[in-house]
Amino acid sequence: MIFSFRKKKTDTAGQVDFSRLPRHIAIILDGNGRWARRRGLPRTAGHKVGAETFRTIATYCRDIGIEYLTVYAFSTENWKRPREEVETIMSLLKKYLLEAIDTMERDNVRLRFMGDMSPLSDELKGLVDQCNAISQRLTGCLCSICINYGGRAELVHAARQFAEDCRVGLVKPSDLTEEMLSGYLYSEGIPDPELLIRPGGEQRLSNFLLWQCAYTEFYSTDVLWPDFKKENLLEAIAAYQRRDRRYGGV
Ligand code: FPP
Repeated sequence: MIFSFRKKKTDTAGQVDFSRLPRHIAIILDGNGRWARRRGLPRTAGHKVGAETFRTIATYCRDIGIEYLTVYAFSTENWKRPREEVETIMSLLKKYLLEAIDTMERDNVRLRFMGDMSPLSDELKGLVDQCNAISQRLTGCLCSICINYGGRAELVHAARQFAEDCRVGLVKPSDLTEEMLSGYLYSEGIPDPELLIRPGGEQRLSNFLLWQCAYTEFYSTDVLWPDFKKENLLEAIAAYQRRDRRYGGV
């Protein structure tokens, strides 16, 4: 895949070794509200720009050869936000999915959804199903959007499924291994992220991919998500590549 920064040789791109990129990058989309407040705009304006940023960064990840991108778009706790804000986020998701249905085949970007979709509107659930069906035919970068997602809720969901499989005699409690438990998660079949990026300056995991991030390198930046550019992604990748990952060894 041709990669424009390689040609331009910007400083940041120069620090990245494109032959050993992380396979899977996860991002907590944070800072939309502050971005809007600093401009005297309603919080929803930040989400609108944040959705565009997501599109740009997802396409760029595909361009440089990232195999998996997972983003935290809406948590199980985000329902507590004002109704207007929740509605705006849901309508942005709808807009994004409608556009994706038209373009994902051409772009060869697969979409997947992680979380409990049951409280979503029937319309949104229908779009999610359509995106899943199109993705089955594609092979490109797998972009997972976490909606109504919480890491603990995901583990509870997995535990219930496993208990049910025990009850019907498919497996025994003593069969359970780490690999088997991973197979009960929403992220089944996706390797754990090597890099988790949190824009917006906070240093928290916020209930995101608790199981999957056991050995993930965490990178936080003060840049707010709507301001996040390709260069910021490259900075995060360069920082990740400078780290010494030992997995508990020496
Ligand atoms: C966090 O910023 C952002 C969210 C809770 C919503 C993210 C949703 C989108 C960008 C829209 C749709 C997404 C896709 C993938 C198309 P915040 O509001 O918590 O910011 P703050 O910490 O500055 O208040």
